[in-house]
Order: sequence, then C-alpha cells, then structure tokens
Amino acid sequence: MCGIVGYIGNRQAAPILLDGLSKLEYRGYDSAGIAVYNGEKIDMVKARGRLKVLGELSHGGEILPGTVGIGHTRWATHGSPSDKNAHPHFNKDSSIVVVHNGIIENYLKLKKKLERKGYEFVSETDTEVIAHLLDYYYTGNPLQAVTKIMHRMEGSYALGIIFRDHPDEVYAVRKDSPLIVGHTDDGSIIASDVPAVLKYTRNVYFIENEEIVRLTREDMEFFTVDEEPIEKTPVKIDWDINAAEKGGYEHFMLKEMYEQPKAITDTFSPRIKNGKIVIEELGMSEEDIQSIRKIMIVACGSAYHTGVTSKYIFEDLARIPVEVDLASEFRYRNPILDAGTLVLVISQSGETADTLAALRESKKRGARVLGIVNVVGSSIAREADNVMYTWAGPEIAVATTKAYSAQLIALYLLAMKFANIRGILPDEGLSRMLEELRALPCQVEMLLNNKERIQRFANRYLAAKDIFFIGRGIDYAISLEGSLKLKEISYIHSEAYAAGELKHGTISLVEKGTLVASVLTQRELYKKMISNMEEVRTRGAFVLAVTNEGNTEVERVADYVIYIPETNKYFTNSLAIIPLQLFGYYISVGRGCDVDKPRNLAKSVTVE
Ligand code: AGP
Repeated sequence: MCGIVGYIGNRQAAPILLDGLSKLEYRGYDSAGIAVYNGEKIDMVKARGRLKVLGELSHGGEILPGTVGIGHTRWATHGSPSDKNAHPHFNKDSSIVVVHNGIIENYLKLKKKLERKGYEFVSETDTEVIAHLLDYYYTGNPLQAVTKIMHRMEGSYALGIIFRDHPDEVYAVRKDSPLIVGHTDDGSIIASDVPAVLKYTRNVYFIENEEIVRLTREDMEFFTVDEEPIEKTPVKIDWDINAAEKGGYEHFMLKEMYEQPKAITDTFSPRIKNGKIVIEELGMSEEDIQSIRKIMIVACGSAYHTGVTSKYIFEDLARIPVEVDLASEFRYRNPILDAGTLVLVISQSGETADTLAALRESKKRGARVLGIVNVVGSSIAREADNVMYTWAGPEIAVATTKAYSAQLIALYLLAMKFANIRGILPDEGLSRMLEELRALPCQVEMLLNNKERIQRFANRYLAAKDIFFIGRGIDYAISLEGSLKLKEISYIHSEAYAAGELKHGTISLVEKGTLVASVLTQRELYKKMISNMEEVRTRGAFVLAVTNEGNTEVERVADYVIYIPETNKYFTNSLAIIPLQLFGYYISVGRGCDVDKPRNLAKSVTVE
C-alpha cells in the first residue's frame, strides 16, 4: 500500500509533502518522490530508497519551490523498486503528473493501446499508464479527463493529480484505495491515510468510491464520476498519531487481519479473466504445465504451512505429486530434483535466508523455481525463474496474517490452473470453484466480525500451559498455523498434531482441562475426527471445534464450537484460520504480550 500526500495553499508545498510522507513511513515502502509546480513547470525529484534519500536529493524540498505539489511513498506491486518506477509519473510533455495507490488490473491492455497510439513508457508501472491515459483524454478540462480514465481503468486506485495548465488546482479520486482530504490553516491537503494530515487538521473528508475532488487554496469541490457536484460532511479525527498509524486498531496485527478480505481480493481478482485463471507472470506454457512431474514446495514458518495445505490440493485436484519441506532442512539433504520438478518457493518477505538458499540449491540442480512472494523486488523475487506476487500490501506485524491468506489464494489459483490445463478440472468445474473463491473475502469479513465471541473464549485460557491443535488432511495444515499463531505471540506452549497420531504418544500429554482445538472441515474425515475428539475428551480435555456450518453432530463431542461458512473443501483454510488468528491474538493481548513485536522474533529471518 503506497502513501499519497498532496497540498495546495499559501506555504511551500515540498516540506509539507515530505513531512506528510514521513508520517506514512510505517506502512513500508521502497521508493519515494515529490512533484511541485514552480510557477512555470512541474519539477520532480524521486528515488529508490528511504525518505532520507529523497530529503537529501531535494535539499529538504528547497530545490522544489512552489505551493502546489503531490508526493508518494511506493510499495511496489508492478515493477521492481527503482528510481524510474518511483512515483510521481509524468505524461510525455510533463504537463500532467500523477501519484497512485492501488493496482490497475487492466494496465497491460491499456498500455498496449497507448503504445499503438505512439505513447512511450519509461517505467514498468501501472501508474505511468494512468499519466498517459490522462494525456490521451485531456482536452483542457481536467475533470473530464479524470472521469474518462475512470471509465477505462479496472482495479483499485487512489490518485493525486496536477495539471500544469491548471496550477491552482489539485485533483484526487479513489476506487477501493483509501483517500482523505482536509482544509489546513492556509490551504488544502490530500492523503492516503490519516497520520499524514493530523498535524494540519483533524477535520477530514473520507472520499468514497468513484468520487472526485478538486482542491483549490480556498476550497474543495466534490463530484461524482458523472461530474455531478456532491456535498460531503467532514469527520473529526480524535485518534492520536499512534492509533492513526494502525487505522484506529489497537495493533498492526488486528489491522492486518481486517485487511485480509482486500488482500485476498487483490491477489485473485487481477488473475481471473473471462472465467479463466490468467497468471501472466507464471512464464509457463501449457506444455510446461503438462510436463510437470513433481512439485517441490519449500518455505519456512507460516509460509511452510500454506505449502502443506497446498500439497493436499495439488495432489487431489491436479493429481501432481507434491513434496513439502522446511527450507532449513531441504537445503542440506542433497535433494533429488530434475527438470521435471517445479520448485515453489513461498515467502512473504522474500528475504528469508533458508528459503533463499533453498531457491539457489534448486536452481543449481536444474529445477525451475517459481517464487510466491509479497515484497516486490526482494531477493527471492529477483532470483526465482518466475514470481507470482501476493498483493497483500506491506505487513508490519511479525505474526503473518494477510500475507498468509494471500499465499493460500495464490496456491489455490495455481492448483486450479494446473488441474484445468492438465484436463482434470473441466471448465465448468473451474467456474464453480471460482465462484466459491470470489465468496471468500465476504466470508472472511463475517468471521472477523465474530471477534468478541472469540475474545471471550480466549480470555478463559490466558493461564494455559499447553494448548494442542489437531486435524487431518488440510485441517492438519490449518492446525499447524493455528498453533504457530498462538505460541509465537502469546508464548504459551502449543503443538499441532495430525489427529491420527494422537494414539502414538501425544495423547499421554492430555490431562484434565487441557485445551485441544480440533479442526474438522473435511467432510470425508468428520467421523475420524470425532472419534479423536472423543479420545481426548474422555481423558479430560476441553475440546474446541472449528467446523463447517451444519456439522452440528460435532456438538456431541465438543465443549465449544466455532462454525465457518460453507466453501469449497479446498478453500477451508482461508476461513478456519480466521478464528484461530483471533484466538491467538486475544490470548496475547490478554497476557499483555507485545503482539506486533513478540520477543525473540523478527519479521524476516535473514540469517540462518
Ligand atoms: C509467521 O507468523 C512467522 N512470523 C514466521 O513463521 C514467518 O512465516 C517465517 O519466518 C517465513 O517468513 P517469510 O514468509 O518472510 O519467508
């Protein structure tokens, strides 16, 4: 998620832009830039790296005089972090300049059309397409040009725009990416998030989807996409800066849990076109996909758990043999790979040392490597043969949630695509699954809204010594992640077990009052799971069940039941993990732990 700031007023714009962007640094970014109208033309300074670099290059904004400007911190989604991909972006004669937060899903199609009309591009970004599209439609009326591009763009955007011929105006528009505007003592300001404006005003207007704003020094006007003027009411922001950075949530982890519906949508939506799964970045022909003889999945921690989930899906749905291994084990065991093996390397940060080493080991042994990565331009993204990004945006909390959910989506898409191309999943079956996939974001949101009930249940276990998670098949993978979420942020000992393994030793650990969380979302395994739940319950365990709506038989053997909505059996992890994330979160909060920065842990383990 990028940061946007714009200003028009009676003060120098550059220092205000730099200050506003510094309040958005917490969101994570890889490059930054500002553009200011200096009375004749629009000047711009932008660079890869931290705001410090931009401050030095612009001498704290001094080399960019002027009172109208826009600024941006970029979290790369299309095009690696670099000077040329940094925002703002100009049209061809630098008479229009744009900053953007979001993903234009049809940018390649628009780019090709513009190239056929003679437009030339200097960056790999979807944002530069917006600048040239505005140029294409601009005939002297900025509002008209803005509404025209809104009818052409698909995807999400929050834009700040300056037209050189209209230097006393700044335009802003949004669809599915946040944007706020407010009056300051001496002008007007736009931003992608509240922290950037709090220093100047606490009365802000939250821009709704497909609303356009025209800012002047004295005023601001709002319009619909049909150029109809609209009235809006400002909202008073009472948050302090700390709360504002978390969007009003108490912790980044909770904020990011609530960003999961968007992370899921942003990861699948650009890759479903006319009922087909289109993964342009895959770099594999249909023949390549048909010739895959084995998939080797390598990752660490939660990323590894998504790999375990996907093993069941690739094998059952696409009938491709899959091996899943911890990167720290894989790299030292002389793995057997060949050209028929597709290695999937999964990593949120793209910098995990063991996972990067496993990638290099795989390439050395002649295997094709596909990265599933959240950070654009990271080491794993650069070194993999191809990379499929999870567009979850920057993840700040050490305990992953939205990136984990986005990784699952990426793996579902791959499994469905492979099964379809290998002739095992027919088109009609694929379209049914895509319908179920599209329902996930709303279902996740519904489960998140159940958080108070989970919090009450979690508060019973703040003093627990051991908490076990059990499941079979995909539910075992869900248990692995539920257990990790709990232990890494609450410091309570927890383990996940394949439920069939209980009898082989673990069950001796179960005593009166031990909490055993049982995940049973796979219908064909219900009966087996229920007998495992009976086994632990007769030995004194308190059984929490996470299961599908309608499976009320489970109430016979569970002391507490959390139901998840109906979905495709392959997608249940995306739903069952939500109450388990909330459970771990509220236990951590109740125990007074540092939820976002748990002891001994780093967000990216870049050392062995
Ligand atoms: C997850 O909550 C943990 N923070 C950790 O297990 C993490 O998933 C693991 O370190 C892998 O990180 P990566 O996805 O950035 O490679």
